[in-house]
Amino acid sequence: MDLLEKCRRFLTDPAYAERLGYPTNPRTAQAQGLYPYFIPLEESEGTTVVIGGRRLIMIGSNNYLGLTTDPRVRQAAADALARYGTSCTGSRFLNGTLALHLELEERLARYVGKEKALVFATGYQANLGAVSALVGRNDVVVCDKEDHASIFDGCRLSLGEMRRFRHNDVADLDRVLSTCPGDVGRLVVVDGVFSMSGEIAPLREIADCCRRHGARLMVDDAHGIGVTGGGRGTAAHHGVTEAVDLIMGTFSKSLASVGGFIAGDEASIHWIQHRARSLIFSASLPPASAAAALAALRILESEPERVARVNELGDRMRRSLRRLGFDTAASETPIVPIVVGGGMETLMLWRELFEAGVYTNVALPPAVPEGRCLLRTSYMATHNDEHIAEVMRVFGSVHAARDSG
Ligand SMILES: Cc1ncc(COP(=O)(O)O)c(C=O)c1O
Repeated sequence: MDLLEKCRRFLTDPAYAERLGYPTNPRTAQAQGLYPYFIPLEESEGTTVVIGGRRLIMIGSNNYLGLTTDPRVRQAAADALARYGTSCTGSRFLNGTLALHLELEERLARYVGKEKALVFATGYQANLGAVSALVGRNDVVVCDKEDHASIFDGCRLSLGEMRRFRHNDVADLDRVLSTCPGDVGRLVVVDGVFSMSGEIAPLREIADCCRRHGARLMVDDAHGIGVTGGGRGTAAHHGVTEAVDLIMGTFSKSLASVGGFIAGDEASIHWIQHRARSLIFSASLPPASAAAALAALRILESEPERVARVNELGDRMRRSLRRLGFDTAASETPIVPIVVGGGMETLMLWRELFEAGVYTNVALPPAVPEGRCLLRTSYMATHNDEHIAEVMRVFGSVHAARDSG
């Protein structure tokens, strides 16, 4: 059998793509204007983007604080580029650690309330490296079923056993931990804010459960940093920073850059620093990206009104969308999903909004459970009231057209 035959069939055969769980194959979807992925943006100033010469309002980003175009962040990146050049051309382990990385790590650790932090080239690599370094042979790692893919990939890379519990269900976590052998190390890993549903994990109850079972707790706060807990994340939101052993975050969302980090006590971070393959065998975060994240973190600390604004807009949009009859699931953050159901229906709603000038994201299985396909909308502190009013006008007219149809 030819190994590459599946690639040709995926490109050309809708029935084959359907068997793999897609609504159709990407090429057919593209011809029908129903392909929402890999769309090239010609321009972006954060709240709006230009695609095919048309300006759309962006409600499909993770740029929660709107800092990617902030003049201070741009300037910090430009200064680092001028000072250090374009790349470190090597791993943190060897030649790729700059004073800038250490400054960023110190500031991040202080901000999230931990002793030490370690910066990776992406958030994906932070999860991959931290989980696989900590969970050794004979250890057990327990994940929420809706955790981010990078956590599951970290579990696969680890030599331990992975178990899963029902989404946000602490009784089920308790059941899973009860069935672990008594003498093994256990790590529980959850998202602080779930990236598709916009829900916040019940960290206080999860931390209590971990303590009862002698398990350690790691929280992926990719979508919590800059948004929950006044910006400090979900452990701060629930007042349980002490009870959370490790906090992971990324720069690719509120912190307006690319990169990621893990924060915890000194010994754990030192261990990860010497054992995480995704850190040791990959080049370090480029200077401009580190400087942009550091500048964004300074702004996050000094301008808490941005955090308040993005949450206020999330609340406003959630209320308005619910009033129109959209199902926004259990969202409680500026991530506001619209659960549609079937894949094709979701793609059609996406296209209507896109044509009307509103950019959203489509989530299909395996990113969401079967039959729970959704449009992911998310808001930015820099959306102005006119943007929000226009988005609501478009949702209102799409909704009215559907009702009358
Ligand atoms: C919950 C979560 N964790 C980790 C990541 C990976 O972050 P990065 O984009 O920095 O690789 C993401 C990004 O999509 C995420 O949503």
